Amino acid sequence: MITPSIPSLRQLYSAGTQQREFHERASTVARHFFGHSVFIRGVVEVSNFCRQNCSYCGMRRENRDLERFRSQHDQIAELLLHHRPASMTDVNIQAGEDPIAVREIVLPLIRTLKRESSLGISVCLGSLNASVYQELQRAGASIYILKFETGDPSHFLKMQSPGSLSQRTEHIRMLGDSGWKVSSGFIAGLPGQGERELLANFQLAAELPLAGCSVSPFVPGEETPLAHETASGIDLPLNCMAALRIMRPDWIIPAVSALNLADPIQGYRRGLRTGANLVTINLTPSDVREDYLLYKRERFIMTEERILEAIDLENLKPSKIGLADYYRRQATSERAAA
Ligand code: 5AD
Repeated sequence: MITPSIPSLRQLYSAGTQQREFHERASTVARHFFGHSVFIRGVVEVSNFCRQNCSYCGMRRENRDLERFRSQHDQIAELLLHHRPASMTDVNIQAGEDPIAVREIVLPLIRTLKRESSLGISVCLGSLNASVYQELQRAGASIYILKFETGDPSHFLKMQSPGSLSQRTEHIRMLGDSGWKVSSGFIAGLPGQGERELLANFQLAAELPLAGCSVSPFVPGEETPLAHETASGIDLPLNCMAALRIMRPDWIIPAVSALNLADPIQGYRRGLRTGANLVTINLTPSDVREDYLLYKRERFIMTEERILEAIDLENLKPSKIGLADYYRRQATSERAAA
């Protein structure tokens, strides 16, 4: 068992030389654990209907100006089976919290992909009933992404994040207990996140049964109540990623595409330089992409070309083994060692 070490505020707010050394340490830890390999996952966003109302998110149910869409199973299946980038080993099927899309699109899609491809399957679909988690797992998904968003219970309520923090973490524990590999995440630089709230993210992440954790830079979302708040910038999110990597050398930590919104020139590559070991290629059909409104309508779309270039420039290489397969092998070798 690895003992997690919670970062200090000095590290989380570091700048200049101290920050550079901190990031280098994180990168060394990642390379020590994972070599130079980076996992490549595609993401498809299949519905932007959402029953939640998070203050930071453009897909919140109260945003009436957003055109809502649900994809067609056949269109997405065709895309993933016959037109996917060669470098991706895994796919993440993502949607707003929309149980109808889960039933009508996601479950049939997972079954199709399982039958006709060897893609590893992650899902990011919000908090659902236990029986639906089970159906998704039986269909063949093995990684569930459920972000806790902020580790402080009253901040969580203020941000109108889904339900309460304790309900959210209960779901994370339930997923972990039932055999899912769970990845969670939080937003760095959310309005109202002081020192205490910032540290709470690490305390909570360390306590949860996670296999990975992401950090999103806060980007004031158009068409949200936080539209006029200050963006996080790039430094705090990168410092948080470095801290997570040092805390948990074994975790899967993505370089999220929003790093490019926080710093359009260097953001993504700096993420890879700060201990990230997973990148995402966005495959959402372009006609609906702008309606998947997390932050701004103008999104920075990570294509395979951009991803491979960033990996190459950072002296890294695409992983030969997929993420879901990696976890599966890890579980097998843990059982053999026990
Ligand atoms: N800034 C940063 N992250 C955001 N998310 C949504 N809106 C924002 C924002 N304005 C993230 C949340 C959510 C995921 C879908 O996107 O973490 O869980």
